[in-house]
Amino acid sequence: MPARPYIVGNWKMNGTRAMLSEARSIDRAAARYPGVQVALAPPFTLVHAMTEEVQAIGVGGQDCHAETKGAHTGDISAVMLADCGASFVITGHSERRRDHGESSDMVKAKAEAALAAGLGVIVCVGETLDERESGKAEAIVGGQVDASLPAPEIFADAAQGKISVAYEPVWAIGTGRVAEVADVIAMHQAIRSRLEAAYGEQGATVRILYGGSVNAENGTALLAAEGVGGALVGGASLTADSFVAIIAAAGTDQVI
Ligand code: 13P
Repeated sequence: MPARPYIVGNWKMNGTRAMLSEARSIDRAAARYPGVQVALAPPFTLVHAMTEEVQAIGVGGQDCHAETKGAHTGDISAVMLADCGASFVITGHSERRRDHGESSDMVKAKAEAALAAGLGVIVCVGETLDERESGKAEAIVGGQVDASLPAPEIFADAAQGKISVAYEPVWAIGTGRVAEVADVIAMHQAIRSRLEAAYGEQGATVRILYGGSVNAENGTALLAAEGVGGALVGGASLTADSFVAIIAAAGTDQVI
């Protein structure tokens, strides 16, 4: 049975407690789309409060440290996220790779720590505009997939559906410039091949999400594209109005 589409909102560094009302509205709407798996990744400061407010959606972190605890001022471990009710974490977002110098080795260690803590993980990959324009996009993203995903023995121990990959072309993030559907299909196929090379037939169980300027208008075509298992949404996940429209684009089985 194909997995349900997975629609995840990444709130990035946005949101104070006043925004929990948006999460409540998103949660109520998501309950009407049982065929769609919905989740939000708010800032760490809202993770616990949000878990107390919602029922139908998952709540996760936007990053975690690779260690479980210790002298790492300002960092949060996967164990801590699990302890405050998170069910997943995003690792390797291009903004973390850019702002915090995160290498694919570090992203892999974080993803493995997330699985060890019982969390699901969404590992992000994506090329820059220079890399795309110089014809290197598939090589760059393929290299990130190979180096950033959990080791095969750890993958084999993780429950099915716990690992997703998000393909987010850096030039499409927050720019309003969305990738061509044909390019998304080609890249998702390339990522799938790498996953199957690494994990054998179990590689087929990994959902591959698209991210980068997804909104209600372009969401329908992107989510219907072959190999697209869902979306990782930034700006359009910040309000219930815009995010619920994307959830609706992913699911036809609305329950009134
Ligand atoms: P936007 O949807 O704002 O382009 O952000 C995408 C993203 O980075 C999600 O992780």
